[in-house]
Amino acid sequence: MGLPADYPVLTDGEIEGILEKFHDAANIAEELGFDFVDIKHCHGYLGHEFLSAHTREGKFGGTLDNRTRFLREIVHTIRVIAPKLKIGVRLSAFDSVAYKPDPTKSANGKLGPGIPEEYAGLIPYRWGFGVNPENPTQPDLMETIQFLTLLEDLRISLVNLTAGSPYYNPHIQRPALYPPSDGYQPAEDPLISVARQMNVTRELKQRFPNLIVVGTAYSYLQDYLPHVAQAATREGWVDVVGMGRMILTYPELLHDASEGKVLEHKRVCRTFSDCTTAPRKGLPSGCYPLDPLYKNSEMAEKLKIAKAK
Ligand SMILES: Cc1cc2nc3c(=O)[nH]c(=O)nc-3n(C[C@H](O)[C@H](O)[C@H](O)COP(=O)(O)O)c2cc1C
Repeated sequence: MGLPADYPVLTDGEIEGILEKFHDAANIAEELGFDFVDIKHCHGYLGHEFLSAHTREGKFGGTLDNRTRFLREIVHTIRVIAPKLKIGVRLSAFDSVAYKPDPTKSANGKLGPGIPEEYAGLIPYRWGFGVNPENPTQPDLMETIQFLTLLEDLRISLVNLTAGSPYYNPHIQRPALYPPSDGYQPAEDPLISVARQMNVTRELKQRFPNLIVVGTAYSYLQDYLPHVAQAATREGWVDVVGMGRMILTYPELLHDASEGKVLEHKRVCRTFSDCTTAPRKGLPSGCYPLDPLYKNSEMAEKLKIAKAK
């Protein structure tokens, strides 16, 4: 990731300070009337970082027990401070190594296809969660299964399964035909990336029938999203299909499909990734290519200029 070896990591004391903030957060969430909160463990955010803190010393790193301490402490706080608040967890069920645009195929401002960062010297790989340490571009669900078992032990039944990180392997997390500004051209057919998440989710749902599992990364299925969502829920691969990018362009998609309406194909998300490029350039997220609110705005002009730089 280009960080020097002596780059400072959070101290245990600082982590404890962060955990204390969850007292207030739990109070606020309950007071505001939320039904549940998501103790996020995905996409490179802090909870997710702990899951792969194999090389960290002290009580937040090393063993899986230590790497899940952050989760357990937050759950404990919520149960004490705000016992009516329900808890869900969004989990990157597997990671991969970081990817970068292939420098030999990047030219004239065009990003090359994604290739893994060099990892041959890093085997067994100790910087991912749910990865095969001998072949870290491949999932290994052993610890993921232990994590879901822990959720059951903690009486948490609402789980959203996703994968990887938008910051260092976006194709794993958010399959797309067009890359965001900090991404790369598809590293593989994006349908393979969709299938990878769906297959892992199916395997985990089958092992944990009592968990309510929300599946992710369906937007690249585009016009076929409703068909696949129906099949996946009907066949018990998943309990609920969560939509990300498609919600920005066509929130009524599943409603229209289930009412038997002809789909509005012009509103279907085509995975242009401007919803990600815009925030990377300091602009609000939204669907710049398809949503008139964004398309015809000053922000669209700014985005065009920022993308041309
Ligand atoms: C613009 C944008 C913002 C996102 N923000 C978040 C976020 O704050 N937290 C998160 O866990 N995932 C976030 N995601 C990831 C989505 O929740 C989802 O996992 C991903 O887009 C794949 O689902 P999809 O194929 O339906 O888009 C974001 C995705 C996009 C495109």
